[in-house]
Amino acid sequence: MPQSAEKRIGFVKRIFGDIAPRYDLLNHLMSAGQDMRWRKFAAEHLPDDTRMVLDVACGTGDMSLAVIRRRPEVNVGGLDFVMEMVSLARAKSARAGVSSRIQHVVGDAMCLPFDDDRFDAAIVAFGFRNMPERARALGEMRRVVRSGGRVMVLEMTLPRNMKMIRFFKWYLRNVIPLLGGLISRNRGAYKYLPDSIEDFLKPDELIACFERVGLQSVMAFPLTPGITYLHQGIVP
Ligand SMILES: C[S@@+](CC[C@H](N)C(=O)[O-])C[C@H]1O[C@@H](n2cnc3c(N)ncnc32)[C@H](O)[C@@H]1O
Repeated sequence: MPQSAEKRIGFVKRIFGDIAPRYDLLNHLMSAGQDMRWRKFAAEHLPDDTRMVLDVACGTGDMSLAVIRRRPEVNVGGLDFVMEMVSLARAKSARAGVSSRIQHVVGDAMCLPFDDDRFDAAIVAFGFRNMPERARALGEMRRVVRSGGRVMVLEMTLPRNMKMIRFFKWYLRNVIPLLGGLISRNRGAYKYLPDSIEDFLKPDELIACFERVGLQSVMAFPLTPGITYLHQGIVP
């Protein structure tokens, strides 16, 4: 993986542009359908008074749809810096008949094209670990969420249990590149994705990152024996 932040961003854009058409299929296959359950958990976690949600790094829009389906009173704005992903997200919302409640745009999480305090919540699902400047990304989410609103990160990590770690690392290093390579024809992408899970912050480190940008009452919820966490903090 390229080392400088700039090269890494270019690399991330290229791989997501390339795997976009196969992204959903591989996600559901590799997580045995758990990814949908994790997004549903996050959507159900939004407070009752939520009306406007920002889905940062929305990809093909599954997090946006999870919110829309569970929360009929909520509208969603989605943003991703890969056009191919945004096009797929738009097509999917149209097929689901919910285009009037979701607006997906091309943009960068490091510099969100929205006014301050515009949303009741901002969530990033499985996109945060691709962002080299994590405090900046959280700071941007904090900026566009009103006081009292939520910033949430749904992300994969290594489990804590030693036996689980061994199995999970074997799965990440062997099964994912093989399956991903066969189906997407881009083995490099499916080597990068598991590496980025292994390199990602531990849950306590992510809590500290939330606190450093001034988010309050930070909590972390482990899902599926700790291979995925939902972190949330409240904007002061
Ligand atoms: C693993 S996918 C997750 C997509 C979706 N949120 C989901 O739940 O499946 C990561 C997405 O993050 C996007 N991404 C990464 N860094 C970004 C950034 N700085 N700004 C906007 N999008 C970004 C990628 O283009 C990709 O679509």
